[in-house]
Amino acid sequence: MNELLDFLKEEGKHLILFGGKGGVGKTSIAAATAIKCSEMGLKTLITSSDPAHSLSDVFEQKSIIGGQIVEVWSNKNLFALETDPKKVLDEYNHYLEEFPELKILLGEEFEEFPGANEGFGLLNIIRRFNNDDWDVIIVDTAPTGHTLKLLSFPDFLSKTAIKLIRIRDVLGSFVDKITNFFRRRKAERKDISEFLEIAKQWSEETQKVLSNVDLTRFFVVMIPELLSINETQRLIASLQGYNISIGGIFVNKFFPNNTTCPFCQKKRKQQDKNFKIIKEIFQNFLIRQIPFFNDEIHGQIMLKKLKDILFE
Ligand SMILES: Nc1ncnc2c1ncn2[C@@H]1O[C@H](COP(=O)(O)OP(=O)(O)OP(=O)(O)O)[C@@H](O)[C@H]1O
Ligand SMILES: [Mg+2]
Repeated sequence: MNELLDFLKEEGKHLILFGGKGGVGKTSIAAATAIKCSEMGLKTLITSSDPAHSLSDVFEQKSIIGGQIVEVWSNKNLFALETDPKKVLDEYNHYLEEFPELKILLGEEFEEFPGANEGFGLLNIIRRFNNDDWDVIIVDTAPTGHTLKLLSFPDFLSKTAIKLIRIRDVLGSFVDKITNFFRRRKAERKDISEFLEIAKQWSEETQKVLSNVDLTRFFVVMIPELLSINETQRLIASLQGYNISIGGIFVNKFFPNNTTCPFCQKKRKQQDKNFKIIKEIFQNFLIRQIPFFNDEIHGQIMLKKLKDILFE
């Protein structure tokens, strides 16, 4: 087995996340990795935490639309799921509707937590991971800033839940009074603690899966440019802060080195210079170099070509 995917030998379900700066090739590489996993006989689900619908484009399969698990290319081991931001939002609104006091108690903190919908999306992915019978779930994340917010969401939610459970314990009946005041349908009253406990439990489960060194890997995608190097350093530091294991770094879009085109030659020279820096800074990680293909990466032929280069 390829050393990048060695960890898949461990018993149990596996989670693979891809992240990096915008446009560096996350979706392409995540899709090619999903194909590889399916070819290894693993029942694979690729899903996107990015609201931009890119899986349907990369697999050239229009039936991959929000909220439904779809088989890809009649491959019995390969499935895709685009999270539907609207659906995730509905789920989140449903909680706020059911527990309006949550909104009041959390105040602006919750309202203004950017990416809270995607955050709940991530919790949903982990619930699937725990409940469904996938061998591998691959998560194609949104560009770095979003991903870091996303990964901080479980921590944010569990801390907030704990804080609110404490407030509730201290204020007890006072909170009940607020709760009852704001609750419209008295007959359907539910205890806010129920939601807080669920939120806390989901968040803790998510953190546990993300930081499980046997099951989970985060692959970083970058391009050989200085700005990408800086961003990758920040991303890796944050991932380490969350105890998330890094599976490797894909350095994408290398210009050809056997060309007569002066522009490509100049570009490649610069890329080689940057790659030296990359190998030095990230010497503790597995690194793969990926060429810039003539064609964009979508459809079976290109994805399989990319897969062969990634895992040759
Ligand atoms: N090695 C490559 N050779 C040629 N084209 C590539 C390569 N890698 C990615 N591309 C192309 O670059 C574009 C961006 O790739 P992709 O969508 O995979 O990046 P991304 O990181 O997921 O972007 P976003 O941040 O917008 O989600 C696409 O058009 C893709 O086909
Ligand atoms: Mg993408």
